[in-house]
Amino acid sequence: MCGIVGYIGKKNSKCLLMEGLKRLEYRGYDSSGIAMLNDGHIICCKAVGKISNLESKLQNADFDSNIGIAHTRWATHGEPNEVNAHPHTDSKNQVAVVHNGIIENYAELKKDLQKKGCVFKSATDSEVLAHLIAMFIDEGCGLEEAVRRTMEQIEGTYGMAVICVKYPNKMVAARNGSPLIVGLGDDEFIVASDASAVVEHTRQIIYLNDHELITLNSQDYIIKTIQDIHVHKSVDNIDWDLGKIEKAGYPHFMLKEIFEQPESIHNAMRGRFDDEECTAHLGGLQKVKDRLRKTKRIIISACGTSWHSALIGEYLFEDLAQIPTEVEYASEFRYRNPIIYEDDTVLLITQSGETADTLAALREAKRKGALTLAICNVVGSTIARESDAGVYLHAGPEIGVASTKAFTSQLTVLSLAALMLGRMHNMSPVQGERIITALRNLPFQIEQIFKADKIIKEIAERFTYAQNFLYLGRGYNFPAALEGALKLKEISYIHAEGYPAAEMKHGPIALINESMPVVFIATQDAIYDKVISNIEEVKARKGYVIAIATEGDEKISQKADKVIYIPDTLPFLVPILSVIPLQLLAYYIAILKGCNVDQPRNLAKSVTVE
Ligand code: M6R
Repeated sequence: MCGIVGYIGKKNSKCLLMEGLKRLEYRGYDSSGIAMLNDGHIICCKAVGKISNLESKLQNADFDSNIGIAHTRWATHGEPNEVNAHPHTDSKNQVAVVHNGIIENYAELKKDLQKKGCVFKSATDSEVLAHLIAMFIDEGCGLEEAVRRTMEQIEGTYGMAVICVKYPNKMVAARNGSPLIVGLGDDEFIVASDASAVVEHTRQIIYLNDHELITLNSQDYIIKTIQDIHVHKSVDNIDWDLGKIEKAGYPHFMLKEIFEQPESIHNAMRGRFDDEECTAHLGGLQKVKDRLRKTKRIIISACGTSWHSALIGEYLFEDLAQIPTEVEYASEFRYRNPIIYEDDTVLLITQSGETADTLAALREAKRKGALTLAICNVVGSTIARESDAGVYLHAGPEIGVASTKAFTSQLTVLSLAALMLGRMHNMSPVQGERIITALRNLPFQIEQIFKADKIIKEIAERFTYAQNFLYLGRGYNFPAALEGALKLKEISYIHAEGYPAAEMKHGPIALINESMPVVFIATQDAIYDKVISNIEEVKARKGYVIAIATEGDEKISQKADKVIYIPDTLPFLVPILSVIPLQLLAYYIAILKGCNVDQPRNLAKSVTVE
């Protein structure tokens, strides 16, 4: 949510900052801006909408410097217009700030600052930062001390970068609750919300922790805590390259990421099977294995697509490992004083590892003494670092705002964890072996599903302008139905709802008529016949049925209007396959409607505000 990037070094920074912004655009895209120190002044340029608008504005401007900050915004306080776009400056244009997060006590601070004569230009919470820092500088503080004192005054979350005309060779950046990294180059530093803005220039990065600030000049840096204590940090290495964050010939990141799934699922499993013991070996969980063995209950907490994975995780852990499991929306869990025991395990699922609500749920669980585990994609993210142990997805960067490959990788890792826990308890080696074989087969089976592209496109053409969609499934296929509906609504803006198929008759059935497309995930499992009855109920009311069915199922083609076949697998692995056509259906409909699939309206990739 909002992306920030800052540069200090020997180069002219305009191009580098603009490139960085483009890589961060998926974090927010309602406006953007850039500020630089130039000849004793702050020069600033802002634009509403996409970063390309800012780029056009800058094209002929005499605008460059070797120190600058930039921002791409996802509005929280104040509508997306030029005045509210970052960077923000103080009344005298001495200090410029970019900020990601929310300053919760900004209203009180603003009132005080106004009484002291500060003139505010924007409706944002962030502008108070510029005025506060300028005020401390006027009182005689250096830039670093002014930022530190500001950190003491503010409540809420922030990742920020600050420049000041009085300190032309200095930049200060600070974090609390919103991610911030620093890339270390040769006589240059890049501050950014995530590594995608940095990887083109250096692979050496430092992760800032909450309540830390870093002061940079082009040669050196110093990190301190808000209490003014020096911190020594290790330098981490990014292990992926630029190719991973480019489209590689695909028209959109989302499509690229859908088609990457055979590989990303393979990567989620790689080196994680123990064929001798017929189990999974998850290196990241080794150090907590004994505690995990004794766990009495698992609570899984997540948001959005990751919450759908959590629902499947619940079924998996109860089914394969017989461990009672509950699922909680992180946004609810964090505020409802949940009962958590010390022998509970709280598992957080998150692609980004930065989702504010999931992070708060993790901290609450830790505070109450539970074992905390994370299933996470972004290496070095806050949730990955703060949990007791965890498992990475190794899916590579996911740039499309609609999550696709992260979802199937999460399900793969959850299946591995359930296999491992099951084998720790009472799962037989034969069953373990069967699961391993089925998991290994998944990448090939997904390749087969891609061949059904034509029929999915036909369905997309027929329903491009549908007003509503229903997605129904039972058992493991119910969360997959929820995920299918979420994909459609977030990128095509068509209203879609997911339901357990049998719940339909308790209300949603009233919506069914000849113009209502109903997607059934109706694969051959123990409750297949029940789902067929639900299809009959829809057909009796003239609904249009699109079925995702098991290859070789002849019966269903007589019931449904369109059938998309997927290969057979174990019931709990079906969602990994059934979601693929649903992702493609959403993608093709959105494209036909002319929607921006990679950057849907109002959304951002990492939701780092609550
Ligand atoms: O990074 P996370 O997995 O924690 O993100 C959670 C949700 O914000 C995310 O899944 C969101 O729902 C996606 N837009 C879904 O496609």
